[in-house]
Amino acid sequence: MEHTMGADNQIETWQEVTLVYNSALKQINTKLEVLNDEFQHVHQYNPIEHIKSRIKTPESIVKKLKRHGYESDIENMVRYVNDIAGIRVICSFTSDIYRIAEMIRLQNDIHVVTVKDYIRNPKPSGYKSYHMLVTVPVFLSDRTVEVKVEIQIRTVAMDFWASLEHKIKYKFEGNAPEHVKNELVECSRMVSELDQRMQELNEEIKGFAMEA
Ligand code: GTP
Ligand code: MG
Repeated sequence: MEHTMGADNQIETWQEVTLVYNSALKQINTKLEVLNDEFQHVHQYNPIEHIKSRIKTPESIVKKLKRHGYESDIENMVRYVNDIAGIRVICSFTSDIYRIAEMIRLQNDIHVVTVKDYIRNPKPSGYKSYHMLVTVPVFLSDRTVEVKVEIQIRTVAMDFWASLEHKIKYKFEGNAPEHVKNELVECSRMVSELDQRMQELNEEIKGFAMEA
């Protein structure tokens, strides 16, 4: 879980945490909007359907630190909780996911800390998504802080699946009946098939548009 920021001891109060992580979210949001607009300009289509972002609640940060056996102080939050700032990018097609990830990777001021490709390697639950943990510099009046942001990139179908699975997991407190879990795995397989067929269809349609 440990991904130390360049400057751990530069954030000292909860207000600073909120300020700095919100600024990091705004920056990544803007970068993604710029990429989407530019993509529209060059290729006449938007790879991004929509973007959701959130700052983790203090309660949920404390819960996570406790789960990993750490004391709840600002230093530990900043050091050990990688998803204080989270952003979810929803795309139409799987190919868009890798395109967006590559465009993020190419940004000079973004440092990619880790990548987890749960599309090529889905979780046993059936969960699929592309995760990037990045840092982005936030320029304050007297210092620059490298701030971690967790980016989750997935298709509309993967997002639909993850929402229902999350709701089910929450409802059964992680112990869903076996047949429900199996059904989720089966639905996840159908999500992959749907994503693949929709992407193929889209490619075929693109070919037609060029001939016309
Ligand atoms: P946490 O799960 O947040 O403790 O972090 P981790 O280090 O295990 O990272 P991981 O990449 O496994 O998960 C990060 C985030 O991805 C989670 O907070 C969820 O938002 C999402 N996620 C991961 N696994 C699942 C899953 O099985 N179902 C759903 N619905 N979401 C998941
Ligand atoms: Mg996890």
